Amino acid sequence: MKKAKISVIGVGYVGLCTAVGFASKGYMVIASDSVAEKAAKINQGVPPFHEPGLQSMLEEAVKTGQLKCLINQTEKAVLDTDLTFVAVGTPSKSDGSINLDFIESVAHDIGLALNKKDAYHVVVIKSTVVPGTTQDIVKPILEKESKKKCGVGFGLCMNPEFLRQGSAFEDTMRADRVVIGEYDKKSGVTLENLYKGFYGKSMPPTIRTSLSTAELIKYASNSLLATKISFINNIANLCEKLPGADVKVVADAVGLDKRIGPLFLNAGLGYGGSCFPKDVKALIACSKNLGYRFKLLEEVESVNEVQPLRAVEFCKELLGNSLKDKRVAILGLAFKADTDDMREARVIPIINQLLKDGASVTAYDPFAIPTAKTIFQNKIQYASSAIACLKNADCCILVTEWDEFKQLVPEDFTRNMKQPILIDGRRIYNPETFSKKLKFAAIGLGK
Ligand code: UGA
Repeated sequence: MKKAKISVIGVGYVGLCTAVGFASKGYMVIASDSVAEKAAKINQGVPPFHEPGLQSMLEEAVKTGQLKCLINQTEKAVLDTDLTFVAVGTPSKSDGSINLDFIESVAHDIGLALNKKDAYHVVVIKSTVVPGTTQDIVKPILEKESKKKCGVGFGLCMNPEFLRQGSAFEDTMRADRVVIGEYDKKSGVTLENLYKGFYGKSMPPTIRTSLSTAELIKYASNSLLATKISFINNIANLCEKLPGADVKVVADAVGLDKRIGPLFLNAGLGYGGSCFPKDVKALIACSKNLGYRFKLLEEVESVNEVQPLRAVEFCKELLGNSLKDKRVAILGLAFKADTDDMREARVIPIINQLLKDGASVTAYDPFAIPTAKTIFQNKIQYASSAIACLKNADCCILVTEWDEFKQLVPEDFTRNMKQPILIDGRRIYNPETFSKKLKFAAIGLGK
């Protein structure tokens, strides 16, 4: 059977991994993005962000001609292909709801292209959008601009993405499940068949459902994961008040219950990134609009707001209350390991509070320093290595769980710091070994 030609509008993490994934399996893919620099990088085979495993696959896809990226040419991308994935951003507005400007403008351009096309074409929304968006916003725009009826002239699906930054490409190639929200059966069958061709024998469990259920599945997944994290962070806070208690042991034991599972029970300084904070806020706002107050998620969010500041409290406890003129070393700036992304990174409120309290801050991260410079400019110092960051520091806060920080031993801290005080914000160090050699505090560790 002839392989469908795919277009992908918006090449962030989701769009680019989708595009490269399909290209790597022999599909012809045309991407389009409004940012010219991004498109240029992609056409040179260079991902515009740090993502393990992506570079070589992208290089190959560009070299073989399976993938090319246009600059802001949605119409052309649609006209030259059979199915279009929409993966543009849906950023937060100040009231927590999502901004649909990109989705609306792309839907408009796709509609215009559909008007010029005779062949059946399926539009697939991959962007995270609140329940009702595909049906009530996207469909009317497509129908108006194309002058065609959805389900007759073109198909429409909502297909949420569950990839994680840091393992985005791997997650695209080996998904846990495929969720297909469909406007009508024909649209759903077309998309399911595409995925059957893509995954072959390893086709993941597939859920075919309504558009709004698919939209809600995405928010329910991310909100439940965020809830697990805030829950374990509350248990961590409780452990700190119980001599001898350790949240890590609690989490390991609780996670052995098959009904709960071990993942996303790592206590720390809270969740960041471009998804959890935004999606929790959006589900709260969407529920409110529907006349329902989602109190549990409001609490999940407020726990996450205060959790990073626990690191600053530890600093004060260990340094004798005042941070004035104290030098604090920060290990890790990215919102999690294996990415250079700092969106909603928990390090941001930590550094802001340290600066407010009069401390001087030196930070190191293997990939995120260029991003950090756009946020903090010269308000903090940037070190070229973990050891350089520790030099003459009064206190160190471990914020991101990069593998290279896991290699550090107590002597790295005792030899280089002015005062060997370490706060493990992600529980990567063995408390027994470290507390013997330095003043050591960790999230969720009872004194
Ligand atoms: C998250 C979801 O995990 C993906 O399934 C989803 O597709 C994605 O959002 C999205 O909506 O696009 P991501 O934001 O890349 O993926 O990162 P996660 O690995 O989920 O981590 C999010 C935050 O939670 C990080 O700051 C991480 O440090 C924190 N976290 C995670 C914890 O504090 N404890 C944990 O046990 C796990």
